[in-house]
Amino acid sequence: MEKIKSVKAREILDSRGNPTVEVEITLDSGIKARSDVPSGASTGTYEALELRDNDRKRYKGKGVLKAVENVNNIIAPKIAGMSIEEGQEKFDEIMLNLDGTENKSNLGANAILGVSMAIARVSAMSLNLPLYKYFNRDAKILPVPMMNILNGGAHANWQSTDFQEFMLVPWGAKNFAESLRYGAEIYHELKILLKSKGFSTSVGDEGGFVVNVKSNEEPIKLIINAIENAGYEYYKDVGISLDVAASGFYKNGMYELKTENLNLSGDEMTEKYKGLVEKYKILSVEDGLAEDDWEGWNKMNKEIGEKTMLIGDDLFVTNIKRLGRGIKEKSANAVLIKLNQIGTVSETINAINLAHKTKWNVVISHRSGETCDSFIADFCVGMNSKLIKTGAPCRSERVEKYNQLLRIEEEMGNKGKFAGKEAFK
Ligand code: PGA
Ligand code: ZN
Repeated sequence: MEKIKSVKAREILDSRGNPTVEVEITLDSGIKARSDVPSGASTGTYEALELRDNDRKRYKGKGVLKAVENVNNIIAPKIAGMSIEEGQEKFDEIMLNLDGTENKSNLGANAILGVSMAIARVSAMSLNLPLYKYFNRDAKILPVPMMNILNGGAHANWQSTDFQEFMLVPWGAKNFAESLRYGAEIYHELKILLKSKGFSTSVGDEGGFVVNVKSNEEPIKLIINAIENAGYEYYKDVGISLDVAASGFYKNGMYELKTENLNLSGDEMTEKYKGLVEKYKILSVEDGLAEDDWEGWNKMNKEIGEKTMLIGDDLFVTNIKRLGRGIKEKSANAVLIKLNQIGTVSETINAINLAHKTKWNVVISHRSGETCDSFIADFCVGMNSKLIKTGAPCRSERVEKYNQLLRIEEEMGNKGKFAGKEAFK
């Protein structure tokens, strides 16, 4: 029986140069595993608390030394010496009890999640399993990547579109490796196209280009152009998905679209999506409305939920209570899953299981602030999720997740099954 020898946290940097928590767990046998916690920019109000030091003398207040101390001084003494076979839920439960708050504001969701993910990884290693098999020994689905190739909103300092993400969805490929190739080739075609039109080709937080266009529709046309230039057929081979992240521009009950000089109601936003979905067969719209606009969501789902996938991110924040409400009220038909929105692996799994039970689609997602930890690639496969959203095929912290999926697909051989068009059923 393997016991936990030590649990050690440290402050490292994420892809934006902000501090984040890394946790390393060592077992008696010497097996050692490490996990890094990601961080959002367009965070939902109802996410679990990311504990920052607020000491302006360090990292403009963004240091995470308190969270690190909470791991080293509070969590570590409690779980050191325990058998790793106690299991994920037991360790997560111990940390939830130690914290004792609804939103993990005591110890910090970043402290708790770092340990929770490291437990998963070290457990897999002690069982001599790849991480995805720790979650599910029979896992065989490879997800379709949703690749954010044009960045707007908070991820581009509001210097581009109001809509935050324009994603390529290479769902017509025969396997994951091919879908990744489609995506990367189109990304390069888009760069050539943008250059030829005199646009900048600098990239935003998730590796997508930041383009100073005049509307939220123009990027869709540019991407379709790039898809065709790369030799693919729009929709049949590669579709488009949007993450509007509308909470970011919701003011006084209205949606302020600065790029288009418009101030729209929830109904008008829904009309806008309806138009885009009809015209371009948009595969999914994430956070089309704000996190508190439940009424708007319910109406939107009635209006266009049959025609496209409506994904709740800030609306549900991977929280089983909010997700439960959404299911009951029929607010959406899919959920975005981010481990650090809720703060433990077990609670994240509970949210996914609830969604699957309800036959909702599940999208496993990175954050805009990431590290090269590829945890979510394995997690996605282990959870049978048919979709993963982890940025453009650019910037190592994004690409590392895709590369890990290549390795998993290779390892699965003939057993692996690419989700393809099934992912949107
Ligand atoms: P975030 O963005 O990580 O900045 O919250 C990702 C998203 O909104 O999906
Ligand atoms: Zn989102």
